Amino acid sequence: MPNTPKFDDVAGDLRKRGEDAMQSFGRAALETGRGPMATLAGVALLGFAAGVAASLSKKAATEVAIGAVGDWVEALAAEHRQIEGLFEQILTTGETDTVRRTKLFRKLDQALARHAFAEETVIYPTLSETEADPEARRLAGDHFDIRGRLHRIEALDKTDPAWSENLRGLYRAFAGHAHDEDHDVFPVLRERLSPQQNARLTRDLAKRAARLA
Ligand SMILES: [Fe+2]
Ligand SMILES: [Fe+2]
Repeated sequence: MPNTPKFDDVAGDLRKRGEDAMQSFGRAALETGRGPMATLAGVALLGFAAGVAASLSKKAATEVAIGAVGDWVEALAAEHRQIEGLFEQILTTGETDTVRRTKLFRKLDQALARHAFAEETVIYPTLSETEADPEARRLAGDHFDIRGRLHRIEALDKTDPAWSENLRGLYRAFAGHAHDEDHDVFPVLRERLSPQQNARLTRDLAKRAARLA
């Protein structure tokens, strides 16, 4: 019988990791003049940096992007914390609060879609090219599973207790996937790449975020 962590324990751990992300990104986020939930998104920050850098030379643009938000690993980790924050917000809503549930679920759906698109078009192809193709396929498989879960939740009535249960399942699946990316796969990929290649990934992620913003 696998030792499944309690939901509250998982949520507590995620809150702590969210606070850590806030310490890393808070200052840059506040400088954008928007609310903390919006500004803590690493990719949103990358988009911000890309906008600032748009008028600069290629080399200067890279330096601005990285200087403003750290590198691509930190940016994606911050976006993971933002998405986890959205899950927690939705799970505080009651079964009768369908308007708020609908609004927050739409926001979550969009955030997950943008995040997955950026990873699948910038990070996973690079992972595949660096002798880690099975890892890239496994992570892409997780994304497929997450999309399936989202689809099943959409088919449920928001007043049905099964809706919350399925959302908790999705939260656990996302948190496990994000933890794997943050602490294992992405740092290993960063180690394999040269500083120039990492700078290129950060810049490509910023461009992608700017296009989707
Ligand atoms: Fe992912
Ligand atoms: Fe991710």
